[in-house]
Amino acid sequence: MNILSPSILAADFSRLGEQIREVEHAGAKYLHIDVMDGVFVPSISFGMPVISSIRNCSDIFFDVHLMIEKPEHYIHEFADSGADLINFHLEATEEVVGTIEKIRFRGKKVGITIKPATPAKAVEPYLKLVDMVLVMTVEPGFGGQKLMPECLDKVREIRAMVMEKGLHTDIEVDGGIRLDNVEQALEAGANVIVSGSAVFRDNITKNVEKFMARMN
Ligand code: DX5
Ligand code: ZN
Repeated sequence: MNILSPSILAADFSRLGEQIREVEHAGAKYLHIDVMDGVFVPSISFGMPVISSIRNCSDIFFDVHLMIEKPEHYIHEFADSGADLINFHLEATEEVVGTIEKIRFRGKKVGITIKPATPAKAVEPYLKLVDMVLVMTVEPGFGGQKLMPECLDKVREIRAMVMEKGLHTDIEVDGGIRLDNVEQALEAGANVIVSGSAVFRDNITKNVEKFMARMN
């Protein structure tokens, strides 16, 4: 079963609650929440207060993508704010196992994330410890960019590692995924699909329905 995780970075923040309910009613099971600190990535998005307040308006699964330096310092705050899964970047910390343990201690699902320049083999030592690997298919920092097709080769490599180890790790792709390339991402081995601008532009309900029709 493949999962669509619409990224609220592309939503209209003046109508955020309403748009989250719309993707949920249209059938999306996850909501992708991009947190940027202006240090790990050049841009700044939003943090815990926004996540806590949208937690009150929806029960959808919160797939939080931390694009922040030293994520280990903030795990309790993001868990408190209502995250269901916390993805952090391998490039952002020297405490990978410690960060995984902190997320587990709070009973949340754990995801590790890699930027386009980080090789697939970087995730291998942690595969048995995590629920998800998030493979960035653009440089993190901004929505609306074009997918880098070479990143899908890393999805293939990671899917092969997961199968070889007999694991059930989710593989999520994020960045530049649209209706016309989602099938390539699935075919490469991804089973969780992030999409921001291709979901929140124009008719949200129709966009979600079209994605889901292509994904299953
Ligand atoms: C980029 C973010 C993405 C972004 C995806 O740094 O991690 O989640 O919102 O947006 P689109 O689908 O527009 O590329
Ligand atoms: Zn993201």
